[in-house]
Amino acid sequence: MAKKPKFQAPTGMHDILPGDQKYFQKIYDVTKNIADFYGFKKIDTPMVEEAELFSRGIGLSTDIVQKEMYSFKTKGGDFLALRPEGTAPVVRAFIEQGMQNLPQPVKLWYFGPFFRYEKPQAGRFRQFWQFGFEVLGEKSPVIDMQIIQVFYNILRELKFQDLTVEINSIGDHQCRPYYKKLLVSYFKSRVSSLCSNCRKRLKENVLRILDCKEGKCQRIVSQAPQILDHLCGECHDHFKEVLEFLDEINLPYQLNPYLVRGLDYYTKTVFEIFSQEEFLEKKTKNSLAGGGRYDSLVKLLGGKDTPACGCAAGIDRIAALLKTKTSLKFIPLSRPRIFLAQLGGLGKRRSLGLLEEFRKAKIPIAESLSKDSLRSQLGRANRIGVDFVLILGQKEALEDQIIIRDMKTGKQQTIKLEKVIEKMKKKLKNN
Ligand code: HAM
Repeated sequence: MAKKPKFQAPTGMHDILPGDQKYFQKIYDVTKNIADFYGFKKIDTPMVEEAELFSRGIGLSTDIVQKEMYSFKTKGGDFLALRPEGTAPVVRAFIEQGMQNLPQPVKLWYFGPFFRYEKPQAGRFRQFWQFGFEVLGEKSPVIDMQIIQVFYNILRELKFQDLTVEINSIGDHQCRPYYKKLLVSYFKSRVSSLCSNCRKRLKENVLRILDCKEGKCQRIVSQAPQILDHLCGECHDHFKEVLEFLDEINLPYQLNPYLVRGLDYYTKTVFEIFSQEEFLEKKTKNSLAGGGRYDSLVKLLGGKDTPACGCAAGIDRIAALLKTKTSLKFIPLSRPRIFLAQLGGLGKRRSLGLLEEFRKAKIPIAESLSKDSLRSQLGRANRIGVDFVLILGQKEALEDQIIIRDMKTGKQQTIKLEKVIEKMKKKLKNN
């Protein structure tokens, strides 16, 4: 058995190797194009924030805050946390940078790594990448629809055919307290059949029981009162309009009256997007994206009362599925069609300047500067499959010349070194 290396990536974290970069790049390119089209501007926030931003914003009783935050005290005594999600940091920046005074809504997007101390399993990492979209300063239900549409379109463009959008409304401060009371009395009378976690949730955050993955709890949940029957007039009308807008653009969705999401800042609309492919492959139901409206968060974090809505998607999960898609087109990296071979000390030195001239002329060129033998350099040129090899040896360097070898015909010609860029431009064009 191979010996384990002394150092390994931290548990639940992984390298994104050169071979996987094209999937991340593809996701980035598609996301950026759609962000540009719908008028979202990119924002980057720091990888760490004050831990309290998250405990307040996401909620003290959530799994993220209770169990999953990488938090630490700095030498200066600040209590910081690696960001577990992007919404609270964007809201912090929105308030701190005076974006409340800009014309509303403010539409922002981000793309980067996030950290949660979760139990590692398929599709669940401790460092994972997300892209997210947030709209701040607009309460219209058309925005909820647009956020769903943005994520649906990105995933469709990445060739996901079988997407399921699950959607629900979890009400607001007017109707949710009454619904929670109903739930508490429903689950209290069945407390002995709940898992130990849900017994705790009954006291701390009863809505989270609806999200429990334990079979015995799910059976009880399936008979529980549904919030859609208890929404106040405002939340009911808002939700109805969101669904009507989705119907208008023919975006298919499924009502899931028990969808609550794992973060406390949501009000009204919540949704998650799944891929059937992943479901079949892994037999687990991991969401590709999740989001919703969070009309109270800006005020909760110290800003003016500002309605908002957003969503984030898991890039690692999407990238893993992209690998199985043959229909996806990648822009091929521009393969160099020229190889510069050098011989002798002077040849090598003159090659350094010549390579820079090719770079400035934006002509891709390959080299093997660390190799001295012509044979091994030509071997590499063959493996790359270039059309031309330039040979700059001791003699050529002394005479300010260079040899061009056409790899198809095997013909060679010697030209003045100063003419080589122009000559190669012409050759590449005609070849
Ligand atoms: P979330 O549902 O916690 O929402 O995460 C969004 C997506 O990130 C998930 O659907 C999943 O694809 C991915 N994800 C989450 N945790 C992991 C993990 N441990 N490993 C791999 N992928 C993961 C949020 O983070 C909210 N901030 C979304 C939002 C934006 N709501 C409003 N605006």
